[in-house]
Amino acid sequence: MKMVTLNNGTQVPQIGLGLWQVRDPQQFHEAVRLAFINGYRHFDTAQAYGNEAMFGHTWRESGIARKDFFVTTKIAVNNFGYHRTKRSFMQSLEDLETDYVDLLLLHFPVPILRKRSWKALQSIAEHGQARAIGVSNFTVRHLEELAKYARIVPAVNQVELHVFLQQPELLSYCALKGIVVEAYSPLAHARDMNNPVIREIAERHGRSYAQIMLRWCIQKGLIVLPKSINPERIKENFNVFDFELDADDMRRLEALDRNFRTCWSPVHVP
Ligand SMILES: NC(=O)c1ccc[n+]([C@@H]2O[C@H](COP(=O)([O-])OP(=O)(O)OC[C@H]3O[C@@H](n4cnc5c(N)ncnc54)[C@H](OP(=O)(O)O)[C@@H]3O)[C@@H](O)[C@H]2O)c1
Repeated sequence: MKMVTLNNGTQVPQIGLGLWQVRDPQQFHEAVRLAFINGYRHFDTAQAYGNEAMFGHTWRESGIARKDFFVTTKIAVNNFGYHRTKRSFMQSLEDLETDYVDLLLLHFPVPILRKRSWKALQSIAEHGQARAIGVSNFTVRHLEELAKYARIVPAVNQVELHVFLQQPELLSYCALKGIVVEAYSPLAHARDMNNPVIREIAERHGRSYAQIMLRWCIQKGLIVLPKSINPERIKENFNVFDFELDADDMRRLEALDRNFRTCWSPVHVP
C-alpha cells in the first residue's frame, strides 16, 4: 500500500474504504472484515453515516492493533458550533471505541458556524485526540476564508473528484497550500460505468472499468475512497497498484471532465 504524507507528517494509506450508506450492521461488519483481510488499512466514516459504533465493534473483533489502521470521521452539519463539535466528537470517540482518530474533518462548509467548529478541531488536535484535522466540500473561496483565522492549516480537503469532475483549480490551490485532496465518490457513485474511452483503456490494460477510474486518481496523487459492500469489488478496488496508465491514457481520461457532480454541491454556499 502506498502512503501519502500530510502537512504535519501524518502518513495516510492512499486507498481507504468509503462507508457512506453502509447502514446494515451485518453488511457493514462483513465489508469491513473483508477489507481488513484484503489489506485495507484506511476507513472513511462520519457522524452522519450512522455507523461509527459498527466500525468500533468491527475493528475490535478484527484483532488488528489500533496503531495499524487509519480512521477518519467527520463532524455532521447539525453538530457545528464550538461546544457541539467538541461534545459530538467525544461521542464519536466512544462509538469508534478509540481514544483518538487519525483524521477529523468538518463535513461541509456550514455558513457562520464553520469558524467556531474549526477552532474546536484545532483544540481537539492540540489535545492529541486527532492526529490530523481537515475539511470536506470546501471550495477555494471557503479555504481562503479559513486561512484568515486558522492557526492550523487543514491537512486535507475531501471533495467529490473523479474523471467526470476533475476540479483542476481546486487541485492547484490545494497543492500550493500543502493541503492533500481526498477524492470521494471516485467511481462517480457508479452513475456512469459505460464510457467508451474508459472501457477501451480498461480492455487494453486487462483491468476493470472501476480500476481505471481509481488508478487515474492514484496517479494524480489523490487519496481515494471507493465504497463497496461487494466482496469481489472490495478486492478489485484495492488492486490498482500493479499497473500504470501512460501519458496518453491520462490525457484521454483528462478529456472526460464534464463537471458531473453526483453528491451535494458546496459551490453556492456563502
Ligand atoms: N465528504 C463527503 O461529503 C462525502 C460524500 C460522498 C462520499 N464520501 C465518501 O466517499 C466514499 C465513496 O463515495 P460513494 O459511496 O458516493 O461512491 P463511489 O465509491 O464512487 O461508488 C460507490 C458505488 O459504486 C459501486 N461500486 C463499487 N466498486 C465497484 C466496482 N469495482 N465496479 C462497479 N461498481 C462498483 C458500489 O456498489 P457496491 O457497494 O454494491 O459494490 C456503489 O454503488 C463514501 O462511502 C464516503 O466514505 C464523502
